[in-house]
Amino acid sequence: GDERLLSGKKVIVTAGGTIERIDPVRYITNDSSGKMGFAIAKVAQELGADVHLIAANTSAEPPVGISIEKVQSADDMYSAVLRQWEESDLVVMAAAVADYRPREAAQTKIKKKDSTFTLELVKNIDILESLGRSKKHQFLIGFAAETGNLETYAMDKLERKNCDLLAANDVTADGAGFGVDTNAVQIYDRGGMVERIPVQSKEEVARKLLTIAAGRMGGVLH
Ligand code: PMT
Repeated sequence: GDERLLSGKKVIVTAGGTIERIDPVRYITNDSSGKMGFAIAKVAQELGADVHLIAANTSAEPPVGISIEKVQSADDMYSAVLRQWEESDLVVMAAAVADYRPREAAQTKIKKKDSTFTLELVKNIDILESLGRSKKHQFLIGFAAETGNLETYAMDKLERKNCDLLAANDVTADGAGFGVDTNAVQIYDRGGMVERIPVQSKEEVARKLLTIAAGRMGGVLH
């Protein structure tokens, strides 16, 4: 049989930054390039997984040989994830999901008028938290993009969102976080820090993260 670590596993990976529409020509997004999520998708496939990659706004070159389901908003991403959720064994939320969206997306281009313009935002669904509440057999990995207090925020997100593992990156550190080819993460579980991965390629980070996850998921019977 296939002895690869994730053979027979169905893996959902999200990547990129969601786009929250203001009007037909304007939107809110963030600096996510998709590199981290793409690296996870690529390595998961190399490890034998059946990968379903869901990507919002990205600037990075997508991995070859993996089909991508493109989405825009957090709501779209949530629907796309839910369609695969029941059958999945592992979900990795590497996407940078917007916490808020404009209360309404205007149907026509908003015209310039007064000297100030107020945009009202409403909270988006937290995809990871919702999955955490409904999870049964699924193994759930979250990311946390932080600008300090890594451990405190990571542990809070891990518990609140009911993740099995959480990879926290300090996005202000050199060679880590948004846009770059490398990352440095601290991996947490309920008991605290599991591993500190110093700056290295996002592919190497993905390999280490997925290896830890595979070791904790229900094993493949041969
Ligand atoms: O794409 P790159 O340029 O390679 O950059 C990689 C990255 C920095 C985007 C990535 O490593 C990363 O940290 N992704 C998570 C970014 C993020 O949204 O972090 P957060 O701390 O705001 O959210 C915590 C977790 O909840 C994340 O798994 C996120 O996907 C999820 N979330 C957040 C908000 C929301 N409404 N729904 C969610 O599911």
